[in-house]
Amino acid sequence: MTAVISATGLWTPKDSISNEELVTAFNAYSNNWNAAHAGEIEAGTLEAKPLSSAGFIEKASGIKSRFVISKTPILDPEIMAPQIEERPDEDISVLAEISVAAAKDALKKARREPKDVDAVIVACSNLQRAYPAIAIEVQDALGMGGFGFDMNVACSSATFGIETARGLILAGQAKSVLVCNPEICSAHLNFKDRDSHFIFGDVATAILVEDESIAPKGAWEILGTKLGTQFSNNIRNNFGFLNNAAPDGIGADDKLFMQNGRRVFKEVVPLVASMISEELARIGVSTNQIKRMWLHQANLSMNTLIAKKVMGKDVDMDMAPVVLDEYANTSSAGSIIAFDKYSDDFKSGDIGLICSFGAGYSAGVVVVRKK
Ligand code: COA
Repeated sequence: MTAVISATGLWTPKDSISNEELVTAFNAYSNNWNAAHAGEIEAGTLEAKPLSSAGFIEKASGIKSRFVISKTPILDPEIMAPQIEERPDEDISVLAEISVAAAKDALKKARREPKDVDAVIVACSNLQRAYPAIAIEVQDALGMGGFGFDMNVACSSATFGIETARGLILAGQAKSVLVCNPEICSAHLNFKDRDSHFIFGDVATAILVEDESIAPKGAWEILGTKLGTQFSNNIRNNFGFLNNAAPDGIGADDKLFMQNGRRVFKEVVPLVASMISEELARIGVSTNQIKRMWLHQANLSMNTLIAKKVMGKDVDMDMAPVVLDEYANTSSAGSIIAFDKYSDDFKSGDIGLICSFGAGYSAGVVVVRKK
C-alpha cells in the first residue's frame, strides 16, 4: 500500500496589510505611548518605545505584506490587535469555516465529494478551543462520515499531519484523509512588539492524502518522510486554559508569540538542512534529482541558507519558491501554499520535497514524486 497526496487547497483572506501600513500604525502607537509617558521617559524610569521601519522588515525577513482576517483594528493605534467576534455555538467556528473553504478547494481539484473522505485532521499552531475538536466540526460541515481529530505541532503541523494521514491509510483506518491547516496567526501576534509585529499572516490550506488505489491521475507519491523534535524555549506562546490572558482582555505579552529570532535562525538552519540530507540519503534520492523544495516560509535568508546547504550551491526562486513576501509567515501552512502555487509544472517522475520547521523545535520533511 502506498499513500499519495491527491491535491492541495488554499483559502486566502481578502484583506492584506503592506509593511508601510503596518509600520505607520506601529509608529503612531509608539509615538502616542511615548508622549503619554514623556515624564517617566525623561526621568529614566521608562524606556521609550522604538520606531519600526518597513525597510528593516523587508531586509531582515523578505516579507512585504500579509493577509489578515481583521485588518482595521490591527491598524488602529488604539487597538493593535484583530477583533474576531465570538460566534454562538450554533454557528460554524472561524477555524472550521476557513478549513472547510481550503478543503473544498482540494476536493474540487481531486474531483472528490466530501462523502468520499474517511477522516479529517485539523493540524495547526493554535486551536481556538479545547473541544469538541475543530476537525469534527469540519467533518459535520462537509457532511461526511468517518472521524476527525485535532493536532498541533506548531509550524510543522502540516508535515506531521501528512505523515499521520499516511499512517492511518497504511493501517487500514482510512483510504482518504483531509489534513486542514487553518492558521489565524494574527490572533497570537503581539502587534505592539517592534521585533515581531511584522512576522505573521492568516491563511488556511488543506491536503488530501489518499491510498494510491483510489488516487486521481497526477497525484504525488510520498517517497519518504522524516519527523523530528527537540525541545527549545526560543519560540513560545504561553496562552492556554491553565494560563489565560490578562483580565483586561488583551493577552499579556507572554500569552502571545515570542521568539529569540537570532537563536532560532542559528539553531534551526543546520538541524533542518541535515534532516533533509539524511532523509534523501535514506531513500536513495540524490540532490540533483530534486527539482524543487517547498520550504517553510519564515525568513527569506533562512530558506536561502537551508537550500544552499542541502544542494551544495546557491539556489534560485525556481528551486525554492517564496510566498513569504506576499503571505508573511503563515506557520504550518507556508510550505503547503508554496507547494499549491508552484507545482503545476511538474511532470511524471519529477521529485520535490516539502519541509517545515518551527516551534518545539519541530521539523518535518516529506519527499514526493509526481505520478
Ligand atoms: N524595525 C526597525 N528595526 C528593528 C525592528 C523593526 N521592526 N525590529 C528589530 N529591529 C532592530 C533591532 O533592535 C536590532 O537593533 P540593534 O542591532 O541596534 O540591536 C536590529 O534591528 C536587528 O534585530 P534582530 O532582531 O537581531 O534582527 P534579525 O536580523 O535577527 O531579524 C528576524 C529578525 C525575526 C526577522 C529573524 O531573526 C528571523 O526571521 N529569525 C528566524 C525566525 C523564525 O524562523 N521563527 C520561526 C517562527 S515560527
